[in-house]
Amino acid sequence: MKSRWYKDAVFYQIYPRSFCDSNGDGIGDIRGIISKLDYLKDLGVNAVWLSPVYKSPNDDNGYDISDYRDINPEFGTLDDWKEMIEGMHARGIRLVMDLVVNHTSDEHEWFKQSRSSKDNPYRDYYIWRKGRGKDGKRPPNNWTSRFTGRAWDYDEATGEWYLHLFSKKQPDLNWDNPKVRQEVIDICNYWFELGVDGFRCDVITYVSKKEGLPNGKFNIAMCGDEHFVIGPHFHEYMNEVNEKSWSKYDTMIVGECIGCNMDRAPSVIAEDRNELDSAITFELMDVDMKWSFFPVKFNLKKFKAVQSGWQNLPENCWNTLYYENHDQPRSITRYGNGRGIYRKQLGKMLAVSYFMLRGTPYVYQGQEIGMTNISLKQEEYIDIMATRIFTLIGKFAPFLLPVARWAMSKRARDHARTPMQWEDKTGCGFTTGTPWMKVNPNCSDINVKSSLNDKNSILNFYKQLIEFRKGNEIIRDGSYKEYFPNNSKVFCYERALGDKRYIVICNFKEKKVPLNVDEINAKGAKLRVCNWPGQDKELGDAILLRPYEAVVYEIK
Ligand code: GLC
Ligand code: CA
Repeated sequence: MKSRWYKDAVFYQIYPRSFCDSNGDGIGDIRGIISKLDYLKDLGVNAVWLSPVYKSPNDDNGYDISDYRDINPEFGTLDDWKEMIEGMHARGIRLVMDLVVNHTSDEHEWFKQSRSSKDNPYRDYYIWRKGRGKDGKRPPNNWTSRFTGRAWDYDEATGEWYLHLFSKKQPDLNWDNPKVRQEVIDICNYWFELGVDGFRCDVITYVSKKEGLPNGKFNIAMCGDEHFVIGPHFHEYMNEVNEKSWSKYDTMIVGECIGCNMDRAPSVIAEDRNELDSAITFELMDVDMKWSFFPVKFNLKKFKAVQSGWQNLPENCWNTLYYENHDQPRSITRYGNGRGIYRKQLGKMLAVSYFMLRGTPYVYQGQEIGMTNISLKQEEYIDIMATRIFTLIGKFAPFLLPVARWAMSKRARDHARTPMQWEDKTGCGFTTGTPWMKVNPNCSDINVKSSLNDKNSILNFYKQLIEFRKGNEIIRDGSYKEYFPNNSKVFCYERALGDKRYIVICNFKEKKVPLNVDEINAKGAKLRVCNWPGQDKELGDAILLRPYEAVVYEIK
């Protein structure tokens, strides 16, 4: 049944709250998305990953679902959604929905039932335990929530604790209960019948927890991982859902695989495993970030080693390529000087650096116009991660608040969630009302409208690259080889298929870098892609790269 269409896909991720507001309430919505489908078609992408639009009390902006089969009224109705997917399909764009089934909202009917009494039929849908200590007032183990603090909450009604690896309004489902797995299968099939082309499975690597829920090794920020990352029954559970749902349709299932490093990846994504088709992984993000919120210095050599490691996975594994999403800061600020005079070259260089790799590239809304991080005051952050960090530090270690502010200025998830910058006007063309989140003031320079009119814009460069990838077998199937791994300024690699080779050279520095390219053995290769004018049309023994320059040469 599987055509593996995703190998020819370029994805665009939509974070619906921040994409486009059609009715002036300040919140992006489905009719807003519908109004931008021609924009997506024109950009050239052929698949969309849509962050959650299901019913949700929005403790974590939709990643806490209270009804898996309906649309959150602030985003529209199921009919709007149907019109949206038809509009996508009519334009040759597939739709991958977010599937958040490690946990539900605490306002989901299952949890309401579950917490009501110990013998409720839904009790075992979640993970309930007695507390430790004589009075049971200490949590059952030392696991911590990914949003800081303990991963357990005490529930008065039944005198037990429930597990939540994220916020306390996101109780973890008990996947060891076969009924829970059947619910997941039914939900997937429900959406497949409505035409969905696949799922991005949220924190799917957390679903199987070690029996007995033992204490984790001490870690100041996150405890317990070793007991639930790709836990004991993970593979079995993936096989089951795959067999009973995912494999029955022509789908793509990409898992958000936190903690899945390149050694373990084949056990999850190799084609013959019948689990996931691909994985969103974090080793690249971890190069300059600890515990998913604390910045550490960027090191290009490490970055390249991670890229190459993943590129060298066995043939039957398929990569997910990304620099940005709704949880990550803006790449143009993260990996270079996104406010400098070479910002356009930087945005384009970053695009080349990952678009030429093996795997499916994802572009996060706004990345294609070079949207940057925003500068916020402590009280202006609204995402649960940043606000929890500020509250916790304010309470227990207020002297560390300046450090927290510095960390959030670089790594908060809020940076990715400012409204999409469509035009230079109040509300940035995102809304006619008051936006739910602050608009980045640089919207006057950085917006879609002006990018469309500027033939040298990052946006127009993305269009060219997307076009360049289409049907390109060298990029899709070619082998990968890295050059100069010890060079700390330049990322250089080759993709080869049959007698054709592409040589990709990206200068990550904001200054000129000369490079001797003798050893690549590609003299006379023809220039195919470049983000600066006037580069040598044929590759010689050496090349002079200008600030953030990226080139692709082709040779037979
Ligand atoms: C994933 C999502 C993130 C969310 C978390 C809990 O990491 O990408 O936005 O907060 O899961 O669902
Ligand atoms: Ca709206």
